[in-house]
Amino acid sequence: TNDILDQLPLNGKSVLITAGPTYEALDPVRFIGNHSSGKMGFEIAKSAANLGAKVTLVSGPTHQNIDHNHVTLKPVVSAQEMYNEVHKHFKDSDIAILSAAVADYRPKKVADKKIKKKDSTFTIELEKTKDILKSLGEAKSDQFLVGFALETNNELENAKGKLRSKNLDLIVLNSLQDKGAGFGVSTNKVTFITSTDEVIEHELKSKTEVAHDLMQQILKQLHA
Ligand code: CTP
Ligand code: CA
Repeated sequence: TNDILDQLPLNGKSVLITAGPTYEALDPVRFIGNHSSGKMGFEIAKSAANLGAKVTLVSGPTHQNIDHNHVTLKPVVSAQEMYNEVHKHFKDSDIAILSAAVADYRPKKVADKKIKKKDSTFTIELEKTKDILKSLGEAKSDQFLVGFALETNNELENAKGKLRSKNLDLIVLNSLQDKGAGFGVSTNKVTFITSTDEVIEHELKSKTEVAHDLMQQILKQLHA
């Protein structure tokens, strides 16, 4: 056909993306969450869609908006909901990019009524959530799998460890060293590490540009 989209590099490809935080309920009105804005994941979704991909964007609660013909937003709240939604789509995906800031622990018991204040101290017992990215690394056949790593020390070593233990093709190391990087800001300082141990450092850039760089890196590895 003459469709202009036929000429885009990700035409006919399905891309699965996670974004935002997860909220882990404590009772009907309270949760444990984090400061992830979702901006990075939403920018990646736009970037992939602009390259012709069909995008499924599984996102925890954010204030981000997206209006793109090729992006389907699947809103979730908890880590378990994100896990379930991601596994619905993974088999039919060509590329999965997991940028969500998933809670590592959730309250072991969720009260069905609002917890009343009582003693001067209060202890919450937490249990581990499932590692969504790791589960995809175990389930993957020929999907290209990308993870993120947020590190404050031993950055490269820790990121390489995650790349291996989660069976990834590429990991994006997020440096919190820099003031304009990370949560709640529109810039990010990232380093890409590939499964063949190539390390590609980038300058502090807008999240839009980081998303673009990431998609170019994925295309490069797919065509290698
Ligand atoms: N991740 C996930 N599910 C989880 C925890 C993390 O899918 N339950 C994904 C994140 O989306 C990210 C990658 O795993 O792509 C790394 O997340 P990060 O928090 O940096 O590492 P963890 O493996 O959780 O280890 P830690 O927090 O102890 O450094
Ligand atoms: Ca974590």
